[in-house]
Amino acid sequence: MLSIHGGTPLRQKPFHPWPVHGPEDEQALMQVLHSGQWFMGERIKEFETEFAAFQQASYGIGLSSGTTALQVALETVGLQPGDEVIVPAYTFVATASSVVSCGGIPIFVDVEPGTYNMDPVAAAGAITSQTRAIIAVHIGGRPADLDAILDIARPRGIRVIEDACQAHAAAWKGQRVGAIGDLGTFSFQASKNLCAGEGGFITTNDRELHERAWSIHNCGRSPQGAWYEHPLIGSNYRISEFHAALLLSQMRNLETQTATRTQRAAQLTERLHDIDGVDPLEPDPRVTTHANHLFIMRYRADAFGGVPRDRFLEALRAEGIPVAAGYRPLYREQAFDATFAQRPFHSAYFGGKPQYGQVSCPVTERAAAAEAVWLPQPVLLGPEEDIEDVAAAMRKVQEHAGSLRE
Ligand SMILES: Cc1ncc(COP(=O)(O)O)c(C=O)c1O
Repeated sequence: MLSIHGGTPLRQKPFHPWPVHGPEDEQALMQVLHSGQWFMGERIKEFETEFAAFQQASYGIGLSSGTTALQVALETVGLQPGDEVIVPAYTFVATASSVVSCGGIPIFVDVEPGTYNMDPVAAAGAITSQTRAIIAVHIGGRPADLDAILDIARPRGIRVIEDACQAHAAAWKGQRVGAIGDLGTFSFQASKNLCAGEGGFITTNDRELHERAWSIHNCGRSPQGAWYEHPLIGSNYRISEFHAALLLSQMRNLETQTATRTQRAAQLTERLHDIDGVDPLEPDPRVTTHANHLFIMRYRADAFGGVPRDRFLEALRAEGIPVAAGYRPLYREQAFDATFAQRPFHSAYFGGKPQYGQVSCPVTERAAAAEAVWLPQPVLLGPEEDIEDVAAAMRKVQEHAGSLRE
């Protein structure tokens, strides 16, 4: 009997904990505490050098969050009030809200059905004379089609920002993400594959962009200027020495954890071959490293006797598997229309005031309402038997699907 109907849950043990810490993390934090240097010190410089090098970027800046990293990146590319920025509709709110915070207009485009990443054809179709930038999100840690997106953007002088907030260590055709576009943004919020509770980062290979971003994140100071000299308007988006110290010590585990996630994701992909109606996203040989921040699956109700996705998720959670439905279409959030009702902007894309009620992204809507199933990354860090339990729980729910319709 299914656990949701009073049966014994298939999985009774917790999965791998997250975040994780050891004595090195404690030591790193205590060193900062006792040093008296709690901001703008050596730990930050060291972490900036190490993490930028890890992502194969020439420059890196530690920041207070992934959201502020996006804001700094948008200000760095010179976003002006009323500029349009193309974003995928299937992402965390910060990808689009950062555009609004910086005075721009987010233009939502659909994602591809096989990857849930931005559809480059849709992005090309959304370009107008007001387009300043495209934010390519590497959703769940899977690199977006940067070849196609850069091909669209570069000839038109449109900047490409990679939202790599879920994509530490991810690589596209052998190159780690973050500096393949003009700028990349990362998050170190507690759920992320590299985390310190909060924190963010910007990567780039462009020295000028780096210096501008550095200035914006540090109250508009210039790297060579005096402390109270402010050639630009910036803000305080800095990271602290505590965060940098913890990230430096957490980074020691990143390669090993990424490799474990890769192995467990391959194992789960293999198991899904035998479960009709739950499919992984489509493979792409250009994705040479998937960060697997999320293992995203696609559910087909017809293979489960018509049981809706949300009921399937409830039944799985009752069996002890921590699955989630994921994002809603971002353009449906009232905040966007409410904000633009009060701003005097004309959008070339909308042919007037932005009106998000007109937006329709069918792939995003299907993913959100009926198809997407997310498994969070800590589940991929445990032993192989954990993955066998995930698959067994899905098979159990499928065998008893009839009882879920009664
Ligand atoms: C795709 C994406 N962009 C941006 C962010 C924002 O990062 P933060 O929570 O550090 O502000 C997140 C974090 O959840 C994210 O997943």
